[in-house]
Amino acid sequence: MYGLILNLNSRIKISTMSNDKSFELEEKQTPLHETRRRFLKHSSALAAITLASPVLVKAAENEMDEKASAWFEKVPLQLEVNGVLHKLSVEPRVTLLDLLREQLHLTGSKKGCDYGQCGACTVHVSGKRVLSCLSLAVMQDGKKVTTIEGLANGDNLHPMQEAFIKHDGFQCGYCTPGQIMSAVACVREGHAENEEQIRQYMSGNICRCGSYPNIVDAIMDAKKGGGKI
Ligand code: FES
Ligand code: FES
Repeated sequence: MYGLILNLNSRIKISTMSNDKSFELEEKQTPLHETRRRFLKHSSALAAITLASPVLVKAAENEMDEKASAWFEKVPLQLEVNGVLHKLSVEPRVTLLDLLREQLHLTGSKKGCDYGQCGACTVHVSGKRVLSCLSLAVMQDGKKVTTIEGLANGDNLHPMQEAFIKHDGFQCGYCTPGQIMSAVACVREGHAENEEQIRQYMSGNICRCGSYPNIVDAIMDAKKGGGKI
C-alpha cells in the first residue's frame, strides 16, 4: 500500500507501508531552487516572445493596423458606372481611378502618371471629362460615371472608337482609352472645329508613341461622320 503525504512546507513524502520499507522524495524550497525556477520562468517568457516575433513581424508587414483603421474609416458611396448602380464602402482617400480599377475591376482607364499630367485615366463624370487619378471617389457620390468600357453600345463600337481604328490612332494603345474619352468630350464640348482646336483641347492627353496626327484625323473624321458622338 502506498501513501502520499504532502506537508505544509511543500515537501512530498512517498512511503510504502506494505513491507515496512519507506523512502522519501523531498522537494525542498532552497534559495538555489528558487533562483532556478525564476530563471526557467524568465527564459520561457523570452522563448515565447522569440517565437511570437515572426507573427508580429508578419502583422506589421501586412499593415494590419492600417487595414483595421481603414475599415473603421470607410464611408458609403453610391455611383452609377456605365449604367450600373453601385453601392460601395470606400476609404475617403481612394481616388476614382483606383476605385474603378481595383474595386470595380474596370481596368480600361489607365494609370499613367497618377499626377494629372498624362490623361490616360480620363473618364466622364456627369458628362464631363475628368482626370480620375486626381479625383477622390467620395466626391462623385450620386453621380454618373462613364469609362471606356461603357462607351460602346453592346457589340457596336462608338463612332470615335471606330474612327481611331480606321485612322490607326494608336500604337501601344496605353493612352488610347484616355484619348478616346477626351476626344468624345472634345467633340461634345464644341472644341473640334478644326485641327488646331483639336490639338489644343486634346493637349492634356499625352501619347508617348506619337500618334498625334492620326488621333487628330480620327477626331475630325468622327465629327464629320455626323453620327451621335
Ligand atoms: S494617370 Fe491621371 S493624368 Fe496621368
Ligand atoms: S499609343 Fe502608345 S502611348 Fe499612345
